[in-house]
Amino acid sequence: MTVTSVVGLQWGDEAKGKIVDILTDSHQIVVRYQGGNNAGHTVKFDGQTYKLSLLPTGILRPGVKAVIGNGLVVNPEALLKEIKSLTDRGVPISGENLMVSDRAHVILPYHIVEDAVYEKRRGAEAIGTTGRGIGTCYRDKALRSHAVRIGDLYHPESFRSRLTDIVAAKNLMLKALDPEFVALDADAIFKSYIAYAEQIKPFVTDTTAWLHRAVKSGANLLFEGAQGSLLDVDHGTFPYATSSNSSSAGIHSGSGVTELEIHRMIGVVKAYTTRVGGGPFPTELHDAIGQHIRDVGHEYGTVTGRPRRCGWFDGVATAYGARVCGVDEIAVMLLDVLAQLDEVCICEAYDIRGERTTDFPSHVEDLAVAKPIFRRIPGWKQDITGARKLSDLPSGARRYVDSISELMDLPVKFISIGPDREQSILL
Ligand code: IMO
Ligand code: MG
Repeated sequence: MTVTSVVGLQWGDEAKGKIVDILTDSHQIVVRYQGGNNAGHTVKFDGQTYKLSLLPTGILRPGVKAVIGNGLVVNPEALLKEIKSLTDRGVPISGENLMVSDRAHVILPYHIVEDAVYEKRRGAEAIGTTGRGIGTCYRDKALRSHAVRIGDLYHPESFRSRLTDIVAAKNLMLKALDPEFVALDADAIFKSYIAYAEQIKPFVTDTTAWLHRAVKSGANLLFEGAQGSLLDVDHGTFPYATSSNSSSAGIHSGSGVTELEIHRMIGVVKAYTTRVGGGPFPTELHDAIGQHIRDVGHEYGTVTGRPRRCGWFDGVATAYGARVCGVDEIAVMLLDVLAQLDEVCICEAYDIRGERTTDFPSHVEDLAVAKPIFRRIPGWKQDITGARKLSDLPSGARRYVDSISELMDLPVKFISIGPDREQSILL
């Protein structure tokens, strides 16, 4: 039995989906353990592009079982839409290959409204959330009294009375926070969610018990992280973070599988850095090079379409992300995007108020004043998308990858030089 985990080490969008997709060849079960439809994974194969948000990437491969674990927040309407978009394209999805935890929490319409209201009130300090009601649903999970789990949808009497109480409270609070708020109707929400519950019923199960049986039977498990360790609610750049443990810290709590040793913890990094939404970003480029990376790397959000902020590879932030996750090996993605630059830079330390450090600051105000100290490497100025082994890469590109490995103190085992599966170098 092999247990593998794929986790992003930056601020999300590290192209984790490609690695997960390749690994599905040798794993029978792919488990998501945190987040919700704030995630956006693009997977390309056989000339087709698939965009996934809530569904684990494993769903695309015949014979692979995809699990939405207890640690997620699930918007049933979004789930049904995503299932339909895939089944319309011939991807079979049934209770045979998709399991949704009855312990996962439900995103309700007021979560989305509240997400927008809180963001608006933060003004210039807005987190820049995806607006999917992720944080407000996780808040209600922690609060408990306003929480609804998937399993609750199948107890309609108690669900109706609790929803009535919750919506009454939400209407009061939202009206106080936003005078333009139009009160929500508990009855209408109840009706639509009971209908969603019926439609998702074939997938809903106690995934914890199911996974325990799978572990006993010796199946190979793959844990698919969404977001990245710098967005982790505990370890990331709080409050400019998401609301779940998007580092590997979330695996056990979000799946219920705790007795496992994770044999391979793969940390996925982009060859540069991107970030969507607010928060400090020391290596950000506001110039033509940043725009060049955005254009060549198609750095626009899968979920929201927002242009991503782009910058140089940050060895301090990424090495910290790797330490938080206990990573064994690195996959470097999108190296091809840097091919035409005259010079490439890697941040090897920060200067914070005159002091050089390789520690990642715990407070965003310290990160905000961190000046990157760069290592400069001459560009290789040639297309590398046809490379299939390390020796096919020009020496500048190899030096660049070696620098990433050295700064992170971890071996690079995979290099991606294009979106297709074949555009990969295994080391
Ligand atoms: P994948 O899985 C990049 C960011 C948002 C915002 C912050 C909080 O594609 O890597 P939220 O809606 O979660 O409350 O927003 O987190 N964010 C992501 N950024 N990739 C993602 O997912 C993200 N999911 C959330 O932009 O800054
Ligand atoms: Mg994404």
